[in-house]
Amino acid sequence: MYGLEIKIFDSSDDLYNYTAGLLSRTIKDSSLYRKHSSIALSGGTSPMRLYGIMGDFGGPDNIEWENVHLFWGDERCVPPDDKMSNYGSAISSLISKGNIPSDNIHRIRGELGPEDGARDYEMRLREFFNDSLFPEFDVILLGLGEDAHTASLFPGSEALREDEHWVTGVRRDNGPDRITLTIPSINNANTIIFIVTGIEKAEAVSDVFFKTPDPEIYPAQAIKPAKGNVYWVLDRDAASVYLQRSSKA
Ligand code: 6PG
Repeated sequence: MYGLEIKIFDSSDDLYNYTAGLLSRTIKDSSLYRKHSSIALSGGTSPMRLYGIMGDFGGPDNIEWENVHLFWGDERCVPPDDKMSNYGSAISSLISKGNIPSDNIHRIRGELGPEDGARDYEMRLREFFNDSLFPEFDVILLGLGEDAHTASLFPGSEALREDEHWVTGVRRDNGPDRITLTIPSINNANTIIFIVTGIEKAEAVSDVFFKTPDPEIYPAQAIKPAKGNVYWVLDRDAASVYLQRSSKA
């Protein structure tokens, strides 16, 4: 059974500072028993302020980057300098501040396309994680879409049923194809942190917790790590419907 914590913040400063502290503590704890720690970053806009705070990490009080490796939970099939690239988005806020050794940055090569890009990323993950059964990330950051998707695991997608590969390609009709960690890869993480803000996500957050479990419809419901901890870090808007339904439960 995994641990679940829901943290709700009125102030976005408090939300991002809490999350940065949680991330830093988690990585420092993991560095006590393994040399190389690993974080899989989320795409989208919600984590951008967190990446800016992380970019300033570097001292002994927080993440010491020389032993921390950055990965991504998913990527769009676009070049790394494309404005839709999750890697490209992180560059400006996190990586460009220069604290992270370039050898510690493992982007998903979206430009290879969904199938080749997925195989390429899985091969590199297997090298890093010594070809274990599934990758064991210390932290995976996730966002949530208004349709309750997470990473690039969308409602009704075949990717939701992938239970052997670590990474899979996702063909999209609207927007670029994607490459994503699969559900068993995500669920093998030690700590998973959802960062969800804005009133437009309120229904989706509540659906994940209160709708009859059906990950085909609400993919984020599939995130149930075997041994790890899941944190939902929400602002008051994103938590509003969840709180209403909780008070009636
Ligand atoms: C992506 C993300 C995706 C994102 C959610 C929320 O590549 O877009 O992995 O799962 O986290 O769609 O996006 P926002 O944070 O922009 O609302």
